[in-house]
Amino acid sequence: MWANLRIYLLLLALPSANFAYQVLHLADFHLDIEYSINGDNTKMCHDDGTKRNQTLGPFGDYMCDAPKPLIQHAIDESARLFPNPDLIIWTGDNVAHIEGYGWEVVLDAVNQTTSLLFSRFPNQIILPTFGNHDYCPSNGFESESSLYTKTWELWKGKLGDENKATFLKGGYYKYRLPNATAVVLNTNLYYSANKAYVNFTNKIDPADQFAFLETELANAEKCPNRVSENCTSLVHIIAHIAPGAFEKTPNITWFRDEYNEKFLNLTVRYANSIGWMIFGHHHTDTFHLIKDEKENVVQLALMSPAVTPWFSTLPGAGANNPTFRVYETDLYSKIEDIKTYYINLDELNKNASTPFVFEYSFKDAYGITGDITPNAVSDVLEKMKTNDSLFMTYINYNTAFWNPVMPVDEYKGAQLCSMEYADYPRYQTCLSKYEKSAHNDLKLPIFSLLAIFYSEFLL
Ligand SMILES: *[C@@H]1O[C@H](CO)[C@@H](O)[C@H](O)[C@H]1NC(C)=O
Ligand SMILES: *[C@@H]1O[C@H](CO)[C@@H](O)[C@H](O)[C@H]1NC(C)=O
Ligand SMILES: *[C@@H]1O[C@H](CO)[C@@H](O)[C@H](O)[C@H]1NC(C)=O
Ligand SMILES: *[C@@H]1O[C@H](CO)[C@@H](O)[C@H](O)[C@H]1NC(C)=O
Ligand SMILES: *[C@@H]1O[C@H](CO)[C@@H](O)[C@H](O)[C@H]1NC(C)=O
Ligand SMILES: *[C@@H]1O[C@H](CO)[C@@H](O)[C@H](O)[C@H]1NC(C)=O
Ligand SMILES: *[C@@H]1O[C@H](CO)[C@@H](O)[C@H](O)[C@H]1NC(C)=O
Ligand SMILES: *[C@@H]1O[C@H](CO)[C@@H](O)[C@H](O)[C@H]1NC(C)=O
Ligand SMILES: *[C@@H]1O[C@H](CO)[C@@H](O)[C@H](O)[C@H]1NC(C)=O
Repeated sequence: MWANLRIYLLLLALPSANFAYQVLHLADFHLDIEYSINGDNTKMCHDDGTKRNQTLGPFGDYMCDAPKPLIQHAIDESARLFPNPDLIIWTGDNVAHIEGYGWEVVLDAVNQTTSLLFSRFPNQIILPTFGNHDYCPSNGFESESSLYTKTWELWKGKLGDENKATFLKGGYYKYRLPNATAVVLNTNLYYSANKAYVNFTNKIDPADQFAFLETELANAEKCPNRVSENCTSLVHIIAHIAPGAFEKTPNITWFRDEYNEKFLNLTVRYANSIGWMIFGHHHTDTFHLIKDEKENVVQLALMSPAVTPWFSTLPGAGANNPTFRVYETDLYSKIEDIKTYYINLDELNKNASTPFVFEYSFKDAYGITGDITPNAVSDVLEKMKTNDSLFMTYINYNTAFWNPVMPVDEYKGAQLCSMEYADYPRYQTCLSKYEKSAHNDLKLPIFSLLAIFYSEFLL
């Protein structure tokens, strides 16, 4: 009888363990080909010819962007741990946080990272997109750029001819998965730091990307079965920059106000037709709930942490340990768990064989019993507001254990309010309820203006 029971339990346990659809996500490589162990880590670790007593680590430095060996190691390790993922999403930002470079630097960085990733996963579906730094100069995205024509040559084999028109028009496309349609967007067009805004011929809908998204969502809503020949009733949204605010610095938002509102209006309107919403850009591990007018939680945007450790000087920000993660889904819509892997950069620099290790399971860490749904995550957030131990768990993972410090005053507000409200009006009302830390009071507005102007400060 006991033997039978054990077999029965084993059978019960097997399907969920074996049949999860694995979505590997690699975010924010920021390859710096000028990284040098003889470099100055207050100057992006570039070698300026000065003789120094100490060399930097061969795999990178917390102050700087990723040298090639770090990116190679992250990709190799993701392939070691997940040799056969069902889907790979790669949300861009391949160029380092540098200024004054030419197109050859962008194309070389994209080509090198493409080669590393595609050669390691030759038979996998890979959905790439651009980050705001993958442009010359950074944050200059417009419609019909030579970037789209050149990278199309690198990526067309994975994306298929049917996507050529939208890709060349604005760097966006869709991809039919077994049970859903992935819509991969170039949200860099909506970034408030995007200098090309002045040149947009269609400021209401740059590159007609909102129309494209809305068409896909409306088709999904009308799709008679969950999956038909010509449609799916679910759309997954993938992009570099998410709607909402940066969680580490008070009142830093990404999209221009009108684009954030428009994006969220569409998300709320078609929330039932949207599966996952997955982004990068923050470099940190966080999420944004999306609420309708009546405060109902209708969607969830998940931000995957970065491979680059780069130290952001935005107030309250900083560095992070290198990471990648896997979303385990049920082949259709539900995210069953999110498993993040990381490496301690100091350990890796001491020992080149240091592996990436399991960091945490979202489900286990936050005590979620069912799937990772918007409502389940909202419940976790409500608990974080009053349970500092749970909030500290989140803070530890936020930077993959790089210098985790419990935030106070408006820095705590920035964290909690960014997670609760992706829309700016409610985010700002929420933030205004937190006390300002005296010493940052003056610095912040001036700094934000500078940061927007000198875009290398920005993520
Ligand atoms: C480098 O080491 C030498 C000898 O130990 C020392 O005199 C010098 O001050 C050091 N330079 C720096 C920049 O630390
Ligand atoms: C891209 O990289 C591959 C492999 O490293 C190289 O053979 C090719 O010349 C590069 N192409 C461009 C356009 O730089
Ligand atoms: C998902 O797609 C697979 C393969 O096309 C199919 O076998 C399965 O029934 C689908 N699942 C759902 C829930 O639609
Ligand atoms: C706007 O377009 C003009 C004309 O093509 C170009 O010279 C300028 O650099 C563009 N501005 C930005 C910020 O992209
Ligand atoms: C797909 O086909 C169904 C029935 O054949 C139709 O009702 C639906 O409108 C079509 N959807 C799209 C996006 O063409
Ligand atoms: C978003 O929806 C609200 C409410 O329907 C509407 O008033 C507003 O104009 C919409 N905003 C945009 C940018 O479309
Ligand atoms: C380096 O790390 C590997 C893998 O963890 C380990 O087997 C090896 O002993 C380490 N080497 C040293 C010198 O610590
Ligand atoms: C707070 O969260 C921790 C998990 O981080 C949990 O163990 C503890 O029971 C929670 N405390 C309360 C009062 O809910
Ligand atoms: C956030 O910034 C906006 C301007 O972008 C300003 O109107 C608002 O008062 C600020 N809110 C807080 C809480 O600092």
